[in-house]
Amino acid sequence: MANRDIVSTLYERMRLPVIVAPMFLISGPDITIAAAKAGIIGCFPAPNARTIDILEEWLDQIATELNGTEYEGMWAMNMIVHRSYDRFEAELALVERYKPKFVVTALGSPKRVLERVHAFGGKVFADVINAEQAEKAVAAGVDGLILVCSGAGGHTGKYSAFAFVEEVRRFYDGPIIVGGAIQSARSIAALLALGADFAYMGTRFISCPESLVTDDYRNMLVDSKMSDIVTSDVVSGVMANWLKASLEKSGFDLKSDKGSTEIDFSDIHGESKAWKDTWGAGHGVSATECIESVAEVVESLASQLGTLKPALEHKLSAWPKW
Ligand SMILES: Cc1cc2nc3c(=O)[nH]c(=O)nc-3n(C[C@H](O)[C@H](O)[C@H](O)COP(=O)(O)O)c2cc1C
Repeated sequence: MANRDIVSTLYERMRLPVIVAPMFLISGPDITIAAAKAGIIGCFPAPNARTIDILEEWLDQIATELNGTEYEGMWAMNMIVHRSYDRFEAELALVERYKPKFVVTALGSPKRVLERVHAFGGKVFADVINAEQAEKAVAAGVDGLILVCSGAGGHTGKYSAFAFVEEVRRFYDGPIIVGGAIQSARSIAALLALGADFAYMGTRFISCPESLVTDDYRNMLVDSKMSDIVTSDVVSGVMANWLKASLEKSGFDLKSDKGSTEIDFSDIHGESKAWKDTWGAGHGVSATECIESVAEVVESLASQLGTLKPALEHKLSAWPKW
């Protein structure tokens, strides 16, 4: 399948051009299945399964729920491809067995998975935070790019989606997925106008009952707005967006700056509480006004889009000089 065909084939099957972004300690099989059934694409990070046996159970659950239905294949697994991550080979062996249509790579070169995912017909989307990484991923042969832009929850990018999409479109015409504060039908429509193909939405889905988080986290999201988000490297050594109140509660000193230390995933399943008690979210947090299921969020985005379409057409036609 040529790269642009991936987009048209998915558009035919999807209700909205939205992928639920993978989130550490947040997304598991339930949110992934719910997203597929709601007509978008679900995705979860493999490390969220504490052991490789649990990962196998999750993949089994997804296959059982979706295979043989109209939603088959509408999900992706996110893999850490960083060298410090020691479960990489075991996870890739499971990928070869369960054959997800899409593998999302994060925090490292997608080269490590390309050949083996392509061998069973899967597609690889690489998550990148700058144009240099995007160029390298394209040269390596990825099937799509995920541009993580400023305002994203968790490890964030620093570039504006406006600039990043434009720059990448100069050298790449394949599928572009954009993450970073996408919270409404308006943001999704803006992305499409910008030349991107799909929205990568994390924060908007954290509070869904299908996620793995606690109710305290859900309630903090409902109560938060953009100014409650802080960008800091104090948790992992890498810049990420957090709910400020949760960092303060966990005792982090926001004034200290670790500098950019080397990221290390070797103890990701250990007992370090840093990630468990600190809650990430992006600048689009104010869209979380109440706790809704994945299907309800998708329904609300779809109905917003329904009203937005005629309003946009009207705006565009109001400019006679066009
Ligand atoms: C709390 C949290 C944890 C995240 N963990 C991961 C992760 O494990 N792997 C990954 O590739 N991206 C991770 N992300 C980033 C998302 O995949 C995505 O880029 C981001 O959520 C998009 O921005 P938004 O939150 O503003 O919608 C995380 C995001 C959040 C909010």
